[in-house]
Amino acid sequence: GLPKFVKIVEVGPRDGLQNEKITISTSVKIELIQKLASSGLPVVEATSFVSPKWVPQLADAKDVMKAIKDVEGARFPVLTPNLKGFEAAVASGAKEVAVFASASESFSLSNINCSIEESLNRYRDVTHAAKRLSIPVRGYVSCVVGCPVEGSVPPSKVAYVAKELYDMGCYEISLGDTIGVGTPGTVTPMLEVVMSVIPVEKLAVHFHDTYGQSLANILVSLQMGISTVDSSVAGLGGCPYAKCASGNVATEDVVYMLHGLGIKTNVDLSKLMAAGDFICKHLERQSGSKTAIALSRI
Ligand code: HMG
Ligand code: MG
Repeated sequence: GLPKFVKIVEVGPRDGLQNEKITISTSVKIELIQKLASSGLPVVEATSFVSPKWVPQLADAKDVMKAIKDVEGARFPVLTPNLKGFEAAVASGAKEVAVFASASESFSLSNINCSIEESLNRYRDVTHAAKRLSIPVRGYVSCVVGCPVEGSVPPSKVAYVAKELYDMGCYEISLGDTIGVGTPGTVTPMLEVVMSVIPVEKLAVHFHDTYGQSLANILVSLQMGISTVDSSVAGLGGCPYAKCASGNVATEDVVYMLHGLGIKTNVDLSKLMAAGDFICKHLERQSGSKTAIALSRI
């Protein structure tokens, strides 16, 4: 059966903004994070401690983290690609981090400039340092269905990378369809293979909506026992190193579907929509959430 509660991991301030050309000010980012947290979201991924040359939009990570350190109600993990990023994150007050590996060799090179094995070595350093400080580490696997360069990615490769991250101590593994090519026809067999090596309660799904398949993919994931879902307010998002990817599935649409299924999320949809409206005004664009557009007409 379906889960009674789904934990939504809001990735808008990070995945949502990392690819945006218009520079969003630090104060707008902080206000966005505050609005998202007060809508009841339990986890709001706040920013990334990556190279500012690679992701200029998130160059203010330190200032964002310092400003939200007393915000209550949600956890605020941040992306860290290496020990340097981890140390900077901790110094800025981060209490939780995430590392991000790829199931595709080509994407690993274009996104973090190293091979999969090299990235796993870096992440072992990060998880080791994190353990000493009792900082939880989330692990992402990207390109779990397809890669912008290599095309389809075998489920065994996804399972291998996911298991490595799990074995080094990641408390949760988020499976990312970075370019949004998956359908229930490819997501289901991938999940079956990953679930044969990692307990389902340790898995999360992270869909991009390039082909409009996200909600269908989320539904089959829930039916298979997954109860943690990543999404982005207003459907913002995309990876600067995956050109053909569109935004993440919109959090408003996920909440609408889950509540329609009788599944609790703790999220207040109207407050969430206000957060989406706020950031869309600053980005000078329409929301990517069908639910937000529909409900704002009523
Ligand atoms: P590199 O150029 O190979 O790094 O980048 P390097 O070690 O040779 O260092 C080069 C410079 O970067 C040096 O500075 C370092 O100090 C600096 P310089 O001496 O030239 O002035 N540097 C750093 N600065 C700040 N923070 C750091 C850091 N590390 C080194 N942590 C690196 C390697 C990994 C740093 C780079 O490739 C990078 O930052 N990549 C991140 C790209 C990224 O954020 N991509 C998007 C997130 S992943 C994603 O979106 C997928 C996901 O959503 C899931 C899904 O959708 O599937 C998670
Ligand atoms: Mg993503």
